[in-house]
Amino acid sequence: MATQRTPIISGNWKMHKNHFEAIQAVQKLHYRLDREDHESVVVTVHPPFTDLRSVQTLIESDRMKISLGAQDCHWEDQGAFTGEVAPPMLAKLDVAYVIVGHSERREYFGETDETVNKKVHAVLAQGMTPIMCCGETLEEREAGGAEAKVEGQVRAGLAGLGGDKVGSLVVAYEPIWAIGTGRTATSDDAQAMCAHIRRTVDEAFGADAAARVRIQYGGSVKPGNIAELMGRDDIDGALVGGASLDPDEFAAIAQYRLH
Ligand code: PGA
Repeated sequence: MATQRTPIISGNWKMHKNHFEAIQAVQKLHYRLDREDHESVVVTVHPPFTDLRSVQTLIESDRMKISLGAQDCHWEDQGAFTGEVAPPMLAKLDVAYVIVGHSERREYFGETDETVNKKVHAVLAQGMTPIMCCGETLEEREAGGAEAKVEGQVRAGLAGLGGDKVGSLVVAYEPIWAIGTGRTATSDDAQAMCAHIRRTVDEAFGADAAARVRIQYGGSVKPGNIAELMGRDDIDGALVGGASLDPDEFAAIAQYRLH
């Protein structure tokens, strides 16, 4: 029997919204989502660090079913790392999901497969769930190297983990050319790469991990294209940037099963 993977829709706010704006957005999102939505899909929001405490308090006091996420972290528990945030600090704020290795971090902030791997281990060690990002550039795709690039990122980013841990986490496939460009991968291309990621996990970590690991697609996801993407076998969710900033749009994405 096929493993049932609970779909997961995540909103990556990037460097948008101060803590007042964050509270308003999460309140609005909460009103848009009902019990059935939360029973059928996990919804996570990933505000900037300065908003986390406010959003955590709101989620807790109103007993919201929205899960709190962060956009990055360091891999050490503490230390002389000016400007960084440690995984235990996030865990203390009831952060449940941490995005690791987003292509913007890799491109602008020197993130490597090695640091991504350290962060994945550190996030899991705190009982949180990593959303590990991977994806190819347009040049890599046009040169026919997309599969090899993504496979390499998945193997390196998850290196040293047991199959049980890999089965519990989330991999986000985000073709870099589709991020913030309005250009979505076709559902065929997205499905093909997500299937390749699952095969890679199968080879490296076993069939059980491959059956359980949740794979998101990311890159210009909108209310109008989510249903088709979610209809594909190996796509279990979405990592949403721009469209997650508007609670109405993001709620419509989380309610993809209705349209
Ligand atoms: P986008 O961003 O939805 O704005 O393309 C996706 C992401 O970077 O996670």
